Amino acid sequence: MSVDARTRIADAADLNALEAVRVALLGKQGSISALMKTLGAMAPEERQARAPAIQALRQEAADAIAARKAALEGAALEAQLAAEALDLTLPAPETPRGTVHPVSQVMDELAEIFADLGFAVATGPEIEDDWYNFTALNMPESHPARAMHDTFYFPDGAPKGGRTASSSEAVGQQQGRMLLRTHTSPVQVRTMLAEGAPLRIIAPGRVYRSDSDATHTPMFHQIEGLVIDRDIHLGHLKWTLETFLKAFFERDDIVLRLRPSYFPFTEPSVEVDVGFALADGKRVLGGSGDAPGHGWMELLGSGMVNRRVIEMSGLDPDEWQGFAFGVGVDRLAMLKYGMDDLRAFFDGDVRWLAHYGFSAFDQPTLSAGVGARA
Ligand code: PHE
Repeated sequence: MSVDARTRIADAADLNALEAVRVALLGKQGSISALMKTLGAMAPEERQARAPAIQALRQEAADAIAARKAALEGAALEAQLAAEALDLTLPAPETPRGTVHPVSQVMDELAEIFADLGFAVATGPEIEDDWYNFTALNMPESHPARAMHDTFYFPDGAPKGGRTASSSEAVGQQQGRMLLRTHTSPVQVRTMLAEGAPLRIIAPGRVYRSDSDATHTPMFHQIEGLVIDRDIHLGHLKWTLETFLKAFFERDDIVLRLRPSYFPFTEPSVEVDVGFALADGKRVLGGSGDAPGHGWMELLGSGMVNRRVIEMSGLDPDEWQGFAFGVGVDRLAMLKYGMDDLRAFFDGDVRWLAHYGFSAFDQPTLSAGVGARA
């Protein structure tokens, strides 16, 4: 091959240029093809003498072009790989960014504690209808307890959210207005209707009331507990709450006081106080609130599920009984981790979150402690 042909192949800068060289040498009108054609006009002896050199030339050119093509394609692939490369070896940031909010952490702690007692986690919608939030919980239309809830109602005629009326509702109850649920208790009704009995569930979630000061925010968190079975009595409720609170606060000297109270959906209803001691002006949970220097603090509402609620949830109250309780998750978090202003929970201030938040590695487990903190 001539030096010229060799350099033209070697200098072809891209695949298009190389193709042009190939056409010029080996194409129909190409210079090497022209040499090939001269063979036809030669006498047999001359052809025999010249053919090997011309064929070798053609082969050499074809090989050089193929080699250059492979080199150009390889370089193009390298360039593409380099451009698309992701460096997965970047080191992690020195300090972890972001923390788990105390509300999430406490909800995980509660789920862990109650899972150990055989409770499943149930959920319900935050946009609820009147029937589940009030009527099925034994608060009919004109019930005075409705006024205690400072409910956020949706305008009349708002979409109803696709719920189909249950058979028990159909008996004399019509679907009501839509609202933001004021407590997690409607999940009691939803779960009984959906799953029947027996049942052991907790239902954590957001609830809403039109109320706002240092200890009340328009949105806060509750966790509902519900046990439905045969022969359930108040003793089961007391044992469950004691076991749960001792595990949650990680101390054995938690003392509860059960006070008679009233909720339309439980009968009897029991408000539960927990004993605390004053240390350096701060309340420390533990011990009897009646001891000197001690006091009682209201913690949660509970009671035996009202027969009417069991009935409206599609179960026979002569066969099935149970207890229920509802407790503020934010309040539990404040008591355990020492925050004093509820509003800061929802400000999204990164300094607060850095101080009170949890590492994502701090998974609550019963073996390592539900409140483990690195
Ligand atoms: N739903 C009640 C509240 O929000 C608490 C509660 C739940 C009371 C279950 C009794 C039984 O105040």
